[in-house]
Amino acid sequence: MKKISVIGSPIEHSLSPYLHQEIYKEIGEKITSTKIDVSKSELRTFVNNHKNDFYNVTIPHKEKILPLLESVDVSADQIGAVNCVAKLKGYNTDWMGFKKAMDENSIKLKNKNCIILGAGGAARAVAYALIKSECNSITILNRSEKRKQTICKWIDRFGNYSANLAAADIIINCTPVGMWPNLEDRPVYTGTISSNQVVVDTIYNPYETAFLKYAKKTGAKIIRGIDMFILQGLASINIWEKNDITQRVNFKKIKKVLEEKIC
Ligand SMILES: NC(=O)c1ccc[n+]([C@@H]2O[C@H](COP(=O)([O-])OP(=O)(O)OC[C@H]3O[C@@H](n4cnc5c(N)ncnc54)[C@H](OP(=O)(O)O)[C@@H]3O)[C@@H](O)[C@H]2O)c1
Repeated sequence: MKKISVIGSPIEHSLSPYLHQEIYKEIGEKITSTKIDVSKSELRTFVNNHKNDFYNVTIPHKEKILPLLESVDVSADQIGAVNCVAKLKGYNTDWMGFKKAMDENSIKLKNKNCIILGAGGAARAVAYALIKSECNSITILNRSEKRKQTICKWIDRFGNYSANLAAADIIINCTPVGMWPNLEDRPVYTGTISSNQVVVDTIYNPYETAFLKYAKKTGAKIIRGIDMFILQGLASINIWEKNDITQRVNFKKIKKVLEEKIC
């Protein structure tokens, strides 16, 4: 039986084992999927002791794990973060998950003006997906100026995406503000939101954040973080299986099962 895991710290909140189980159930394979709490000081030993393993990586190890692996694929290297490991090779499937979530919701990213709230790992993965999709501009809004400048410099490596927009076609929350249990919190966004915009939250717990509830009231199209979450998991399994299993998986069915697990 294939053994899969997700590592991070803290890790009890992770829904990845449910996601792995559900996807593998769809393709008729039995697996075990476990959550492993790996502290920062234990990361190197974990990697060395699991050279033949398949696992997802979450906060706080996505960046720190890179130099500990044997190799990383091009996108993980460019983003500077790994969330999926297959036998000591690192990948980033967060950006793929975001891009596929937009496809799933029929959102075209080409030539669009986008605002990202946040400047951490999720913001980088989302920005990378926007760049790969030939968006027109990316405006970063972030609490700390220093991290904002760092991500803006990183984006500049890929071309000129600069803009300083008060409003955009697509607004994406890549901060943890509003994540369970802080259900009433909303990221600071002073621009207006209206019915011709798309508002995305990368947070998947709760199912619908206060930010999305607010955006929905304005008539904006909203996209919940669960779509990205499922699709990054599916992209990870495609890597582990060395096979594209997407067509064999019922996305809506998996979404329904996960929705029941979410607060
Ligand atoms: N759906 C998915 O599959 C998926 C995948 C990956 C991540 N995510 C979500 O993405 C979120 C961010 O993850 P990450 O890995 O990017 O984290 P991260 O690297 O720690 O970055 C967090 C970002 O949020 C900002 N931030 C944190 N707390 C804030 C607050 N109270 N007020 C304003 N800004 C705040 C930080 O600003 P400073 O720079 O000022 O500290 C930073 O820019 C998580 O909530 C996670 O749920 C979802």
